Amino acid sequence: MPPAPPCTPTSAAEVAEGLRAAGYLPGESTALVAFLATKLGKPILVEGPAGVGKTELAKALARYLGRELVRLQCYEGLDEAKALYEWNYRKQLLRIQAQGGEAGWSDVQEDIFGEDFLLARPLMSAIASEQPVVLLIDEIDKTDQEFEAMLLEVLSDFQISIPELGRVESRTHPVVLLTSNNSRELTEALKRRCLYLWLDYPELEHELAIVRLHAPDLDEAVARRLVEVVGMVRELDLKKPPSIAESIDWARALLLLGARDIDSRVFTETLSVIVKHRTDMDLVAERVGVKLSATVDAA
Ligand SMILES: Nc1ncnc2c1ncn2[C@@H]1O[C@H](COP(=O)(O)OP(=O)(O)O)[C@@H](O)[C@H]1O
Ligand SMILES: [Mg+2]
Repeated sequence: MPPAPPCTPTSAAEVAEGLRAAGYLPGESTALVAFLATKLGKPILVEGPAGVGKTELAKALARYLGRELVRLQCYEGLDEAKALYEWNYRKQLLRIQAQGGEAGWSDVQEDIFGEDFLLARPLMSAIASEQPVVLLIDEIDKTDQEFEAMLLEVLSDFQISIPELGRVESRTHPVVLLTSNNSRELTEALKRRCLYLWLDYPELEHELAIVRLHAPDLDEAVARRLVEVVGMVRELDLKKPPSIAESIDWARALLLLGARDIDSRVFTETLSVIVKHRTDMDLVAERVGVKLSATVDAA
């Protein structure tokens, strides 16, 4: 898709329409919260199970708003150097060597702590960007509370202090999305600063529309059956219930296999596309597989 020209939405309905045009079908509150975020300049904290469209929302917002997406993927042990900035030591060293013994230390120091020797990481890039961006801080729950505190500071002032260089203030206001899979409780301080969006597994009709968007060639009756079956599977007490991502994968798999219906044979053959734990597989095969053969027999 070619990048859209930059735009400023004036209503939640406009955001909903824009997201749809960008290939994302928002739920009711999604468009509203996204609209408020662009107006109030507050970050959105998007929580929910894996695979329900948290990351994709940020990408789609960037496409719709015609902004660059700057992504900080969080992981355990992520530190400031990887999130904000770090000095390019190799380059600094080369400069010191190149100058040999001729220049005094103060000259060299002034030189090697300049912008040319700075490696901007995502938070810094988003703040320093000339054009407003969408900043995605993905899976914030994977970091520790110390990192969260640093992030709070950055998010409240939109500025970064570099001891050797001074302050970098943001020239434009980014739209910020933080996502969390809920693997740990985030601090109240962070929640207070954000608008909150809970994304869950969608309603049947909503999921059907998403599946059909991603696998338009799949027969509608099969697609409907698929989301019904996925709904049944989610009702079981599983380690990892199938998400929208699995529904889409399953639709594509069924398309490839040329399945015309989801009977118990097709279901058993393709089960591993939607269920990914040994114990879950046994439970699903037993409960849902049996149900499917019963409906086929009855038909
Ligand atoms: N509302 C939606 N409209 C269109 N596609 C969606 C929607 N929700 C989820 N998806 C699709 O589902 C998949 C998983 O979404 P993703 O954003 O990676 O989930 P999460 O970040 O919550 O784990 C992606 O392929 C995404 O495009
Ligand atoms: Mg994600």
